[in-house]
Amino acid sequence: MLRYLTAGESHGKYLVGILEGMVAGVKIEPERIKRELEARRNTSGRSSRMKLESEEFEIISGLRNGKTTGAPIAVIIRNSDVKELEDFVPRPGHADLAGCLKYGFENIHMVAERASARETSVRVALGSLARAFLENFGINFVSHTVAIAGISIRNYDYSFEFIEQRRFSSPLYCIEPEAEKRMTLAIEEARKNGDSVGGVTEVRARGLPVGLGSHVHYDRRFEYRIGGALLSIPAVKGLEIGKVVFRGSENNDPIILRGRKVRRGTNRAGGIEGGISNGEELIVRLTVKPVPTLRKRMDSFDFRTLEPARTPELRTDICVVPAAGIVAENVLALEIAGLFLEKFGGDNLQEVIRNFRSYLKNLKLK
Ligand SMILES: Cc1cc2nc3c(=O)[nH]c(=O)nc-3n(C[C@H](O)[C@H](O)[C@H](O)COP(=O)(O)O)c2cc1C
Repeated sequence: MLRYLTAGESHGKYLVGILEGMVAGVKIEPERIKRELEARRNTSGRSSRMKLESEEFEIISGLRNGKTTGAPIAVIIRNSDVKELEDFVPRPGHADLAGCLKYGFENIHMVAERASARETSVRVALGSLARAFLENFGINFVSHTVAIAGISIRNYDYSFEFIEQRRFSSPLYCIEPEAEKRMTLAIEEARKNGDSVGGVTEVRARGLPVGLGSHVHYDRRFEYRIGGALLSIPAVKGLEIGKVVFRGSENNDPIILRGRKVRRGTNRAGGIEGGISNGEELIVRLTVKPVPTLRKRMDSFDFRTLEPARTPELRTDICVVPAAGIVAENVLALEIAGLFLEKFGGDNLQEVIRNFRSYLKNLKLK
């Protein structure tokens, strides 16, 4: 079983993550983790706080000579903006109100510090470890922005390779320049008005074998395993797998048999049928809400006086759709690595490779 825990607050000294259950012998390149952390941070639409956010990390256990040992892997990320904040007016759209009532606090930061999406940095670091493992089996991930502020890309049929090559040339990770231009204007307008904007990011996984997850029980279904994890990303409010159209005859992906090879005419199912990966690309779209902290101050109340008050002015992002895509790639990788290890097992990488090859060799159809 692969599992992980995170700890740490937005303005605390460190963020900490522990990944347990990773097999021995997986090569880990710190550069790769750094790249992912920077991809999460350096998108346009984010706040000046991003410049303060340090992505300086260290792997403090579970590695020897650059390879995993099979022991728990602990990662720490140092925060550079360390401080204790105090505000007593809960912001709508955040965990502030419900969290303070539930835990008995008046200072919203007692909740907000942990509820903050700063925590997703450490999930990205752990996800990079899962990706390093999955790359040994040809499994890769990519995300791109498909909509911001109601402005969508026109085409949904771009290949994985095309998205991979193009997305980082756009600060919004959007592969259609025309849409990107309009999205950028919408973000700038929101910034001017003290507002924020949401949108949709698409995450894909390529190279999954047929047979991860199962139809036999609800909590073994692929959707169950990835759904909760992806919806736990702050601000993610909706999830769609594949592209459902409303007539069955158009929605089903034709099965085409060519000798001992089975192919699909389309991929509207997005890589999962009946709770099992079907060997096609996994395609998931996530709806990301506009971030709730706004420069425009909103009506609320003061927890100390119970009198009406305006929300505090706090530094905030304007749009986190591209960053949420990077987080989602890595969160997805953690879940898929878990499913993969459940199916193919083993204590070291070579053992998993043997199990995987033997499974593929014995499949009736390729
Ligand atoms: C990468 C990332 C960065 C975020 N940055 C901010 C931010 O600067 N300000 C803000 O109000 N919300 C931000 N959010 C969203 C909030 O964390 C989230 O809306 C809040 O914790 C309430 O949780 P919920 O939206 O899931 O209900 C961010 C989300 C992500 C994924």
